[in-house]
Amino acid sequence: MSFRNLIDFSDIPEKEWDEICTLAADMKKNPNRYESACAGKVLATLFYEPSTRTQLSFQTAMLRLGGSVIGFSDPNSSSVSKGETLRDTIKIVSTYADVAVMRNPVEGAAFAASLYCRVPLINAGDGGHLHPTQTMTDMFTIRQEKGSCDGLSIGMCGDLLNGRTVHSLSKALSPHCGNTYYLISTEKLKMPEYAVNLLSANSNKVIECRTLDECIDILDVLYMTRIQRERFTSESEYRSQAGIYILDSKKLENAKKNLVILHPLPKVDEISYEVDDDPRAKYFEQAENALYLRMALILTLTENYPDRLPIKGDKYDFTGERYCKNPVCVSNHEKYLPKIIKENNERKFCGYCERDVN
Ligand code: NCD
Repeated sequence: MSFRNLIDFSDIPEKEWDEICTLAADMKKNPNRYESACAGKVLATLFYEPSTRTQLSFQTAMLRLGGSVIGFSDPNSSSVSKGETLRDTIKIVSTYADVAVMRNPVEGAAFAASLYCRVPLINAGDGGHLHPTQTMTDMFTIRQEKGSCDGLSIGMCGDLLNGRTVHSLSKALSPHCGNTYYLISTEKLKMPEYAVNLLSANSNKVIECRTLDECIDILDVLYMTRIQRERFTSESEYRSQAGIYILDSKKLENAKKNLVILHPLPKVDEISYEVDDDPRAKYFEQAENALYLRMALILTLTENYPDRLPIKGDKYDFTGERYCKNPVCVSNHEKYLPKIIKENNERKFCGYCERDVN
């Protein structure tokens, strides 16, 4: 495997992604074969932000592989509450564990942590930025249900501004072709421009809609999301956006018979209860797939990278310059971080949160 840390789904080359999918599918079919695959190994789960599914499924994944789990789910019960830097926490934890999983409310935190981590690090969500293991689940489930991720009409509905799963998914879908994306949201919660650009790469079409009724009959896949209450500055602002998109049986009357309904969960009120029993609802299977994909990922990383490496971040020069304008970028929170700017043909962007820098 060529990647040691999973910060972004695009860290996984296509061929290696196929191998992970094959391994996950085998784990689902023959779980007993893998019950001691990680015996003696330790997974650290560092959750600076609440999580049920992601954290429990990572922990279950390691336990089902015969390994053990350490970590915290409430930073207030760790040294973080005493003001410890991310760098120190990661340095120490990576001398205890063989692989680490981190969720953090700040964008780019996973990449920042990977600079100080001596073992493979997996991003379990960094603010509104990325959530690559959810994306693995989404891509795997689409591929399982539709045969591939190309030539489809894919709707994404809800909080497209703040939802990291749709941003991460847009990045992963970017190299695919022949797709039409229907982005269903209010004006306020529109998909950020950078993600729209990713989706429209490779001549894919992007159509913005304000209602589900405008496109539900055309869709092959509908990815519903909740309004991300915790990312709003006030309750009244959240209230003004909540409850606008609700998928119910009535709306589904116009949908294709083989529509695939996905949701990263937790769902709040955006999918009516009766839809759970509709055979087109695949979100519980999607959540189950996540367990096997996380097992496959943990096994792959611990097998390929069994040694603790020296810390990479110490090699960078620290300039003290604050250069990223994104207030929720980790570079503006963890002040010791080196300035890292990345560049491609079109733009220059912050190496942590990936927002444009001039
Ligand atoms: C998502 C997340 O944390 O971003 N949940 C998850 O990981 N399954 C989606 C969400 O919280 O809305």
